[in-house]
Amino acid sequence: MTNAQKWISAFLGLFLILFIVSRVTKSDDIILEEYDYYSNESASETIDEGLTLINQFECIACHGADLKGTKLAPGLFSAKEYWSRSNLINYLRNPSSYEGDARFEGYKKAYKTIMPPYGNKDIKELGVIADYLLKLE
Ligand code: HEC
Repeated sequence: MTNAQKWISAFLGLFLILFIVSRVTKSDDIILEEYDYYSNESASETIDEGLTLINQFECIACHGADLKGTKLAPGLFSAKEYWSRSNLINYLRNPSSYEGDARFEGYKKAYKTIMPPYGNKDIKELGVIADYLLKLE
């Protein structure tokens, strides 16, 4: 090997090492971000998650930002008096199947809107909402 060849191979070697180091640190960053994301998720309490979903699904547009009711829909604080968890989830998925009930006849007269069905939502998310509503006081 000539001197020139030695220099060239030394440079190439150095370049390769730098390249590998940059790749390794880069993938480390991504893993860290993912870890943060999931650890934030698990740290947030179900309570916050329920409220977040209620905002996200725009339940508050009708039931009010404080869930105490508006001209469009009743308050949700008495949900725990009427519903078991599984019935409440079923109701959210398909409100019209509970129409016959006297309470709902009253709602029909009192409110011009109807409760939309949320059957297209993830049932686990509806469960989180149900948990939240059943704890409201
Ligand atoms: C378009 C307006 C509207 C939206 C949006 C809406 N609701 Fe309703 N909701 C109503 C109305 C009106 C009623 C009264 C019953 C009926 O008319 O079907 C009701 C009834 C309810 C009840 C039953 C109350 C009782 O006394 O048992 C629950 C629980 C409920 N809504 C939860 C929710 C949740 C959770 C969301 C969001 C995922 C939501 N609602 C979104 C209008 C709405």
